[in-house]
Amino acid sequence: MIEKYYIKGGTPLKGEVLIGGAKNSVLKLIAASLLAKGTTKIYNVPDLTDVDIMLKVIAQLGAKVEHNKAEKSVTIDASELTGVTASYELVSKMRASFVVLGALVSRCKEAKVAMPGGCAIGERRVDFHIRGLETLGAKIKIENGYVIAKAHKLVGGEIYLDIPSVGATENIMLASVLAQGSTRIQNAAQEPEIVDLANFLNAMGADVNGAGTSEIVINGVKQEDLHPIEYTTIPDRIEAGTYMTAIIATKGKGIIRNVYPAHLTFFVDKLLKMGASIKLLDPTSIEVSCKNRLNSINFITQPYPGFPTDLQSMAMTLLTTANGVGIITESLYENRFMQVPDLNRMGADIHQDRNHAIIKGVKKLSGTTLAASDLRAGASLVVAALMAEGESVVGKLHHIDRGYEKFEDKLRLLGGKIERKSEEFPINISEETHNESYL
Ligand code: EPU
Repeated sequence: MIEKYYIKGGTPLKGEVLIGGAKNSVLKLIAASLLAKGTTKIYNVPDLTDVDIMLKVIAQLGAKVEHNKAEKSVTIDASELTGVTASYELVSKMRASFVVLGALVSRCKEAKVAMPGGCAIGERRVDFHIRGLETLGAKIKIENGYVIAKAHKLVGGEIYLDIPSVGATENIMLASVLAQGSTRIQNAAQEPEIVDLANFLNAMGADVNGAGTSEIVINGVKQEDLHPIEYTTIPDRIEAGTYMTAIIATKGKGIIRNVYPAHLTFFVDKLLKMGASIKLLDPTSIEVSCKNRLNSINFITQPYPGFPTDLQSMAMTLLTTANGVGIITESLYENRFMQVPDLNRMGADIHQDRNHAIIKGVKKLSGTTLAASDLRAGASLVVAALMAEGESVVGKLHHIDRGYEKFEDKLRLLGGKIERKSEEFPINISEETHNESYL
């Protein structure tokens, strides 16, 4: 069976939506739980296929895992690890699982983790991760598609990242928690998820300083200094930004609850410049509305605190019907405009030239058959379908299920006309075509 969304566009979204825990944080917190012997409990865990995969990865290493979906919690007993291999079958399904490399090298002084390879949105190399671990003294070889790391002991060092890579910063943080002496990561990623990981590690007994700035210093502690904890994941800023976009795109009015507005400053600034109205109601709630046609803007995606690449496709959907011409420059990924052909099929006027997209605002989009090509492109097509005239059918929902918990339920609560329906798998589509690798 395959599942598709059937969406009737044109209804302004109204009401309230509650944001869940941050996918890109919780995946790393799960890996970080491997560092402390004993049972760690994480709350505010979204029910996503990516979370299921990450839990399978750590279960493969010997951690005992309990996922209480009703309570939105996971309990991880990492008292004893029985393996150091993260298999290709799992890592190829979700790149973020590569972060167990740092945790395993830290705790076990060895790891064998499948190379994640490129994916739909870009090449996504892991050279900074590897160089960082080598600086700490790990001996690394790549054999049969696996990164094999061994360290007699890890000693802190100076690491400069060419790009403030989120994953490399996280892997190096995890690897250096138990290293001898201090590790300094310069040009570190500053995303809120990095700060969440640092807070989690510090609560466990680690000594991580400067997270949220471009220089992070990790003073190594001893294994016996680390203890299991209970911890609540931060809200998902990208999920929040997606619902903000959906409300604005449909000319609706709604409240986003459980959001940290400070994590969305750049995005909010651009929405205000386009003409949307955004009000802070309390420290974790914002009201979003839009009555008139938006104005076009230009922006460049950048590492945090710049415009988030994960919301680039949402903003593009808004620009399709804005007044004037907008230019988007995607500076993080080589191939993150995969929504463009489908948006043009809906009547948009977008011209793509390498990493630039020129969007000439049209009066309206009209519904059609669409397919999610990756997580964020897929979500932006759902938003486009909600604002378009007529009906759309969106396929390849497995991409969207990776990062949006109960997407259609939350949109329906806002009044969106969206339904998920199952259909027989078409006989002429092979399994391989359907099961593309995940991000
Ligand atoms: N890069 C390298 N070498 C490396 C590491 C990164 O060249 O060793 C390059 C990448 O190819 C990319 C850029 O640096 O062009 C930035 O990559 P980064 O490592 O920062 O990204 P990531 O850790 O792989 C995370 C999120 C992404 C998000 C990016 C940027 C997770 C699980 N994923 O990826 O989220 O787009 O940071 O903010 O945290 C998503 O949620 O849909 C998603 C793709």
